[in-house]
Amino acid sequence: MKLGTLTAALIVISISASWAVASEPIQPIPAASVKNKAMVELGKKLFFDTRLSKSGFISCNSCHNLSLGGTDNLQTSIGDHWQQGPINAPTVLNSSMNIKQFWDGRAKDLKEQAGGPIANPGEMAFTHELAVEVLRSIPQYRAEFKQVFGSDDVKIGMVTDAIAAFEETLVTPDSRFDKWLKGDKKALSNTELAGYKLFKEAGCVACHNGTAVGGGSFQKMGLHADYKTASKAQGRIAVTKQESDRMNFKVPVLRNVELTYPYFHDGAVWTLEEAVETMGRLQVGRNFSKDEIGNIVAFLKTLTGKQPDFKLPILPPSTDKTPRPKPFQ
Ligand code: HEC
Ligand code: HEC
Repeated sequence: MKLGTLTAALIVISISASWAVASEPIQPIPAASVKNKAMVELGKKLFFDTRLSKSGFISCNSCHNLSLGGTDNLQTSIGDHWQQGPINAPTVLNSSMNIKQFWDGRAKDLKEQAGGPIANPGEMAFTHELAVEVLRSIPQYRAEFKQVFGSDDVKIGMVTDAIAAFEETLVTPDSRFDKWLKGDKKALSNTELAGYKLFKEAGCVACHNGTAVGGGSFQKMGLHADYKTASKAQGRIAVTKQESDRMNFKVPVLRNVELTYPYFHDGAVWTLEEAVETMGRLQVGRNFSKDEIGNIVAFLKTLTGKQPDFKLPILPPSTDKTPRPKPFQ
């Protein structure tokens, strides 16, 4: 009998403990689970390898710099031949949590996404055939592909599989906010807590929720008033051709948002204060006071987590057979 009561009590405690987190609209980020270490290591090399671009100068890391929160901190990215990109680069950190990839969701997952930039004339300006030819010409890469995929006949699908596997490890757990969620009530200051409370009450969590504090839906930018921008991007309508999707963009993840300036799809806003003021006016129809904005910004900065930490990969050298970079053609 006694044991039964104890068990019942324990069940109540564990239910209420998990309820404490479950009742919040934001959940802590679990540590990365590495399923295939060799594949992740290969993907890491490919992520940093500039030879997957026509110029031999641009890698994924050029625009998704892992020293800078997984982005380039530019209004819009610089591509092949110093071309001005059309849109702001979102972070690759926690991107595995997105329902789809890109602002308009045109790629269904990280694997499908990873093939895009290599062949995009405005980004890496290469072709999948040439990228594969480069990798096949390098014996050390062939050996690694053989180890991971059982074949050294490199295919673009293996390249994108490996890059996606690496990207899945780019999560940022252990932010101060996550510590608070997990029960460390001293992890946040009163200002930060007031900011979180307002973030919930004002309705920001209707769109920015879940583990990544965003990334889960497409929403109209400019609900209460139009968003004025010089950018030609119209969002999700480009994919669905539905008029109702005009100016619907994927809700950005707010994890590490302190690091991922400038903000919005057009990269027009450089400070978190201005981004929050804009969101208040356009998305929830509120003109926040300076103090309110300060509180929300203080909360947002608690979402900066532990950044991916690893040894910079050393890439295998090219050979006589490796196609040469063409930076000026
Ligand atoms: C020239 C700069 C540039 C390069 C190089 C580049 N990207 Fe991107 N990346 C961007 C931009 C800009 C976007 C947003 C494009 C859009 O949404 O239309 C993006 C979007 C993404 C996204 C989607 C994130 C999200 O939240 O939707 C992922 C993932 C990504 N890139 C990974 C990669 C990988 C992997 C590589 C290398 C194979 C790469 N990128 C190379 C600029 C770049
Ligand atoms: C109706 C859905 C919705 C609501 C409510 C909402 N947002 Fe957003 N938020 C978005 C979308 C969509 C974007 C991207 C818009 C764009 O780039 O054009 C965004 C972008 C942002 C950004 C910039 C992130 C980046 O990386 O570019 C911040 C910061 C932000 N929101 C904070 C807030 C705050 C604070 C609130 C509450 C006052 C809020 N949002 C309410 C949908 C919403």
